[in-house]
Amino acid sequence: MEPSEGTEETLLPLVLSRFQLSEEFGFLLPDPLTELPAPYGPWMEIAHDLPQLIADRRLRSRVHQMPQLSTGHLHGREELHLAHLVLSFITMGYIWQEGEEGTMKVLPRNLAIPFWEVSQALGLPPILSHADFVLANWRRKNPNGPLEIENLDTIISLPGGESLRGFILVTLLVEKAAVPGIKAVIQAVGAILQQDEETLLQALGELAEAIGDMIKALRRMHDYVDPAVFYAVIRIFLSGWKDNPAMPQGLVYEGVSEEPMAFSGGSAAQSTVLHAFDELLGIRHSKESTAFLHRMRDYMPPPHRAFVEEIGRAPSLKQHLLSSGDARLRAAFNQCVSALAELRSYHITIVTKYITIAAAKAKAGRAEPGDGAGPSAGKPPTALETKGTGGSHIFSFLKSVRDTTREGMISA
Ligand code: HEM
Repeated sequence: MEPSEGTEETLLPLVLSRFQLSEEFGFLLPDPLTELPAPYGPWMEIAHDLPQLIADRRLRSRVHQMPQLSTGHLHGREELHLAHLVLSFITMGYIWQEGEEGTMKVLPRNLAIPFWEVSQALGLPPILSHADFVLANWRRKNPNGPLEIENLDTIISLPGGESLRGFILVTLLVEKAAVPGIKAVIQAVGAILQQDEETLLQALGELAEAIGDMIKALRRMHDYVDPAVFYAVIRIFLSGWKDNPAMPQGLVYEGVSEEPMAFSGGSAAQSTVLHAFDELLGIRHSKESTAFLHRMRDYMPPPHRAFVEEIGRAPSLKQHLLSSGDARLRAAFNQCVSALAELRSYHITIVTKYITIAAAKAKAGRAEPGDGAGPSAGKPPTALETKGTGGSHIFSFLKSVRDTTREGMISA
């Protein structure tokens, strides 16, 4: 059957807009706002000065003096996302300013109430998530220039200087490299429904290529992020208050609830991309890993979560290939699975360098965060030696997920 161009033309924009996906940027917020309306000047002022306020141990007192602002002047998705980004960064700085031994049990009402309201409006949790840290936290230096790291910057920052900037922007480049893969996922689902094998073959080829490009983008972490700074300075600010011994009771959001609440910290496990690829390719992870990954979906913007669920409900690609008997399709499918396992293996290499080796060096007193660390080059958090900022037991989880990906191949 010939590819039906009509279907492709109408399906793609329809699906993209339904799930707040951008043709050009995928799950990234397209050209995010960088300033809030004037009444929110007090938030923006603090947010723009976070690294210094944290280094001087002045952030908490600044937050205590912050006026109680109504969220009523925030309009539209862009303003809400920027408000969530700003309030989440201020919250992380407020909680972790003194390191893991001096955490707070209560988030004061002038921060907690607006943060809660903005979170409710967006369907996001009241904590920093991948959607804040990366998806909504970028701007072009030259608005007409390319989406390349030299022309990019973050909107809001935390301690960690150039390494923090690099960590956020390299992750952004991985999201960007995934965009043709996301479009290929949509195309593949359409092709299965249409029994259009040529389009399916093409889509699988594009997906494998996009995953290869994601690996290339991930490699750039080495050029922009210093492991000592990542481990000793940056990581703690991404930590949450769920399953974290440094905050065993969670956090009371004053004026919202008297009961403490527990939320996981920011992690790229909350990125929608691999969840969507897994669903299309029918990858089945272990019960424990699946439970963790599904919990991470609660940290995605609801339309992105809905996208993953929709792919999961679509007719099974694997079943389609098993019954079609088309060797070319099977080979293309296996190439996608193999590329995905390779991406996960490479990610494990990165994690080993940035966490395991960095931890060993920090313990041996060999790694001092260099000058590029910016302010607050503190003590690494012990609660996170074997756990990820999302709260997983890092290596058993990551290896299990990589191995179950490999098992997703179709045998010849
Ligand atoms: C220095 C760089 C990085 C480190 C140290 C790191 C660390 C981790 C850790 C510890 C986990 C376990 C989950 C948790 O508890 O948080 C994780 C999961 C994950 N990370 Fe990263 N990560 C890095 C960069 C990235 C980048 C750039 C991406 C791509 C967007 C990414 C994608 C993922 C995904 C998708 C998972 C979930 C597991 C999976 O589906 O394979 N990571 N990461």
